[in-house]
This record gives sequence, structure tokens and C-alpha cells, in this order.
Amino acid sequence: MSLLTQKPGLLRKWGACGCLLLAVAGSASLAQQSRVAIPVARPAVEGNRAPYDLVFAPDGKQAYVTESAEGAVAVIDVATARVTTHFRTGGEQPAGLAVTPDGAELLVANSYSGTVAILDAATGKQRAMLSLPGMPYGAAVTPDGKRAFVSVSQLDELAVVDLKTAAVLRRIPVGRRPRALEITPDGKTLAVGNLAGGSISVLNTETLAEEARVKLKGINVRGIAVTSDGASAYATLMPAFNGKPTDDPREVWHNLVQAVTLEGADSSVGEDQWMDFARVSGSTEVFGTPDQHDIVLDPAGRYAWVASAGRDVVTRITIKDRRRDAVWPISQIETVVGANPRGLALRPDGKQVWVANHLGNSISILDAGSSALVQTIALGKPSRVDPTIAGQYLFNNAQLTRAHRFTCNSCHPDGGADGLTWRFVHVKDRVNQRNSRDLRSGVIDTAPFRWSGVDAHLDAFIREEVTGLLGGPVPTPVQARALEAAVKAMRLPPNPYRTADQQLTPVAVQGRELFLGRAGCGTCHAGPRHGGTGRSAWIGTTPENRPLDVPHLTGVYDSAPYLHNGRAATLEHVFGRENPGGLHGKLHTLTAVEQQAVLRYLREL
Ligand code: HEC
Ligand code: HEC
Repeated sequence: MSLLTQKPGLLRKWGACGCLLLAVAGSASLAQQSRVAIPVARPAVEGNRAPYDLVFAPDGKQAYVTESAEGAVAVIDVATARVTTHFRTGGEQPAGLAVTPDGAELLVANSYSGTVAILDAATGKQRAMLSLPGMPYGAAVTPDGKRAFVSVSQLDELAVVDLKTAAVLRRIPVGRRPRALEITPDGKTLAVGNLAGGSISVLNTETLAEEARVKLKGINVRGIAVTSDGASAYATLMPAFNGKPTDDPREVWHNLVQAVTLEGADSSVGEDQWMDFARVSGSTEVFGTPDQHDIVLDPAGRYAWVASAGRDVVTRITIKDRRRDAVWPISQIETVVGANPRGLALRPDGKQVWVANHLGNSISILDAGSSALVQTIALGKPSRVDPTIAGQYLFNNAQLTRAHRFTCNSCHPDGGADGLTWRFVHVKDRVNQRNSRDLRSGVIDTAPFRWSGVDAHLDAFIREEVTGLLGGPVPTPVQARALEAAVKAMRLPPNPYRTADQQLTPVAVQGRELFLGRAGCGTCHAGPRHGGTGRSAWIGTTPENRPLDVPHLTGVYDSAPYLHNGRAATLEHVFGRENPGGLHGKLHTLTAVEQQAVLRYLREL
């Protein structure tokens, strides 16, 4: 077994039997660590257009960058590295984008609005706007320019779009929270990264069948790239160590790049590379590459560049190289770019890697040969200065985390929840298993905090998470307030289960009546968020003397699995197999049709 494919535990053994670096890392104290100046970028507190993803025109003359805070796409003239114009995307929080093979049109997924805009690439004029509620994220176009694919992340679906008529032809179920998409150069295979599912869906673009769903070693699959021969895909992901207690911040999350061979139904996992062993000059501790986003490959398939969003670096690694064992980890090169790098693109001539710095309001240009930073492009002033940028940066950056392997955003991706159940050791409230919370539904206004309700105040809660879970220093009052402000500003998109104008469907209206009446829910789940008002109760999900804080239900459609221990995979399970004593309201006393109405209402909250 090569060192690169070993588990971190084994690597430490290797460290103990000869590697000074890793052996010392075991005893490096926080004080030691904080003396080392870790290079970080500066967040654009004075104004951020929030660049997210970027693509080049096929002829390499233009680059297009989605600006999620502006509902815009920046157009950059590549020769002069100047922003020439900004196109409106007609929606909020544009994320992924794609350009048609003839370079004539752009497809932009407005993730928050739930729309996909088709724009003229020369003028920015909107040709069509598709309605795809449920946070569309990624977009990809087939090489013949006939079809596009869009990942609809909240609904775990892929939409197939006919580009000529701008109509959605079909929706295909894939893994949980599909995001990044990549089509092989021959156009035959589409690889879909399922963020929360921790898998890659391999689709046949002609039959539209999901031929395989290849399980990876972790979740948070944010980036995907295919090799120029179309034989494999490389994905960025994070193995979670949530099965064990969170007593060592070096063993909470790791960051990994894993290959998948694309062979239709026979697709399978290939090589992998653990990324969290970067040396930072002057430090005795090895560092992580937290929250890896995009990945790009050089045409020869020798190198991959990865945007390590949580440490403001782009990491170049060697792939498909048997000799790398000998040179590892020296073969890993890090380049400090702007704040929170997410999108990456290789210039069509292969000479540069461009990086979208999501909280840095800039594009970094790296020389592909040396990986050195050669230029930075400022995107210009936003229409509004967002006062929460400093907090967003702390939330997305690993500077408060010992060994820098994960961030708040690792467990709360873009404010949502990772879907995992953790075993926290820093909280003494007798709750052994706790499911991550979605932070976009106003949870910050639902004191007291935690499933147990043990923390009355948010500042105490934040201090406990930073020191106890991240292993970091006590946050300064400024840092704590910044984090609080950033969490407060997080918001859910419009509910994809409601009507187009965000009204309850007729079935949900019936469900609401039952919820407040015969189903007996409204007594506990009261108030504007249907819970979270400070009331606690015991419904048989914990030992008898341990009541829990009644959770709010806003946005519950998007926070599976459910209950404090995450034992209910679906809302149906909450009242079925996880309610054996019938103590959780009176849903079980209603008819099947009435039960469906209540569940529908829950999905529309
Ligand atoms: C290892 C995963 C993980 C990390 C890292 C993490 N969280 Fe959480 N978060 C959770 C879990 C699990 C819960 C539920 C906590 C509980 O009930 O004790 C939670 C709950 C929350 C809540 C809601 C409190 C409530 O009422 O339940 C907030 C706010 C929050 N986290 C913010 C943060 C911030 C800010 C950071 C970074 C400093 C952070 N989280 C880092 C997993 C994580
Ligand atoms: C006696 C108070 C009480 C009543 C009545 C009650 N609940 Fe709950 N509910 C709770 C508590 C406490 C929890 C948290 C349990 C846990 O996490 O193990 C909960 C959890 C839930 C959850 C899971 C939330 C999540 O984020 O995981 C849903 C959904 C829910 N309740 C819906 C309902 C509905 C629908 C009804 C009516 C049929 C109802 N509840 C009646 C107290 C109550």
C-alpha cells in the first residue's frame, strides 16, 4: 500500500517511526502554533461582488465569472486582464455557469432564485429564463451544443435542458445534493458530484440513465474534473470522522482528492490522495487544505490544482505519477491567492490557472508551469457593502481551527447542514449524538441553543465551539460578533415545494389546520418558527429524564436527517419508526390522507 492511500492514523505511525515533522506535530501546543505567521489573504470588507465560478470562452479570449452578491457575470478580456463589463443574470446568487461550444451563449444557474438564465455571450442579452426552484448550482453543455444539464441541489435532481427550445426535457434523480458537473470531451458521459451524498453519479448523456453511483471516501464533494481522455474524473471531498468523539481537531475532517474511472455501469473508485499534510515554514504542525472547492487538471493529466477555500491557497498536486511516493509531500505546491478561493479554470492554451476568490472580490492568475501568482484582477465596486464579510470570512476560514483542516463551513456548507451526526466531547449536556443544524432558517433567534437547550446565550455557544470543537483560541469580542452577524445574515431560498408565488398548496393548507388541531403539534411547535421558543419536552427520543429543546421547523424540508441524533432519514420516519411509543404528537391517530397533508405542510414551512 502506498503512503498516499493510507489512512491518517497509519501515517502518524509512520511519523512516529522516523518522521520528525509529524512526531513533533503531536505535541505542538496552540501557543507554538500561534507564533507562526500563516499566510492568509484579506477579505474584501470594503466591498465584495463575491466571485464564485469562472469559465473561459472556447477561443480563450474572454473569461466569465459569476458574482453571487450582485446577480451578475463579470466579463474579462483575457489579453489585457481587464473587466470589460458586467452582465445581469436576472436572478440572485448566481453560482455555476457554462458557455456553449460555439462561444455564443452563457448558461448561469441563479441558485437562490431557482432559475437558469441563457444569455448572449457578446451582449449579455437574456434569450431565455428557465424556472428550476430548489437551488440550481452547476451547469454543463454537451460538445454538440444541443443539451445542457443543471444540478438542482435541494431536490437531488438533474434537469436536462434542450438548448434550442430552452425547455426542461426531463428530471433525473441522482445522489444527495448534486452540485458540480463535468462532461467528458467526447460528450458521452456526465459526472455529477453529489455534495452530501458523497458520491459521483455517472450518467450516459444519450440514454440519460444514471449508470453508476460511485461512493467516495467522504462527503462535501464540491469540485469535479474529468481527464482529457475522458477515462476518469477527479473529485474533491472531505472524509468526516464523525463516528469518533471530537476530542482532536486534527481528526474531525480531512480533505481528499479521489479519482473515479468512468466506465459506465462498471465505473469505480481509483487512486486517492490525502491532502492535509502541508508544511508551513516555521511551524511544527502540518496543515490542512480545508473545504476544497474546484479542481482542474492539466491536459497531460500530470497535475491537478485544487482551490483550498478555507486557507486561501491553491494547491497543486501530482496525479497518476508512480514516483510521487518518493517526492511526496514536497510535490505538493501551495500558492496563496485571495480570500476564500472557490472557482478554478485552466486557460484553453493550458498556460494559466485562474482563481475566483469568493470573499476577496478578485481573480488570481497563476502560471501553470510554476504555480506562481502572476497577476490579480480586481472585480470592482459592488452595489452595496455587505457588513458581514469579516464574519463570513471567519466562518469559511480555518484560522481558528487547530491544524487548519476544517472550518465552520465544513459542517454547515454555505450555512446548511452536512447531514451528519457528531459526538461532541466539549459539551456536557448528556446528549451523545448531535445532528448538525441548518443555520439559514433563523436558528440564531431560537435561544436557548443546542438540541438540549443548555446554552442560553449565543456568545457562550460560539466561544464553546471555537475553543472546544475547533481547538482554537478564545475568540475576541470582535471575532465573536462578526461570526454572529454572518450567521444571522444566512437565509434559506424560496421554498421549492410551495406554489410559484410562495403560497401554501391546498393540501398544505389542510395540513396546517391539522397541525394546529387534531395532530396536536402546535402546542409544542408554537410561534413564528413553529418551535424554538424556549420550551422543552420529552417525546421518547432520549432516556426519560432528558427533555430536549423543542426545535423550530422553518426550512425543515432541507435539513434531513432529523431528530437530535439524526436517526430519522425522512420526515416520515420521524413519526414512524422513530416514534414507537406514540409520544410525539398525535399524527399516528390520523388517517393516511390526513398524515400526508401534515407532512406536506411541514415540507412547505
Ligand atoms: C464538526 C461539525 C461542526 C462544526 C465544525 C461547527 N458546527 Fe455548528 N453545529 C454542529 C452541530 C452538531 C450542531 C448542533 C449542536 C448541539 O446541539 O450541541 C451545530 C449547531 C450550530 C448552531 C445552532 C445552535 C443550536 O441552537 O443548535 C449554530 C449557530 C452553529 N452551529 C454555528 C457554528 C459556527 C459559528 C461554527 C464555527 C465556529 C460551527 N457551528 C462549527 C456541527 C458543527
Ligand atoms: C410534546 C411536545 C411536542 C409535540 C406535541 C410535537 N413535537 Fe415535534 N418535536 C418535539 C421535540 C422535543 C423534538 C426534538 C426531538 C429530538 O430531536 O429527538 C421534536 C422534533 C420534531 C421534528 C424534527 C425536527 C428536526 O429538525 O429534526 C419534527 C419534523 C417535528 N417535531 C414535527 C412535529 C409534528 C408534525 C408534530 C405533530 C404531529 C409534533 N412535532 C408534535 C416536541 C414536540
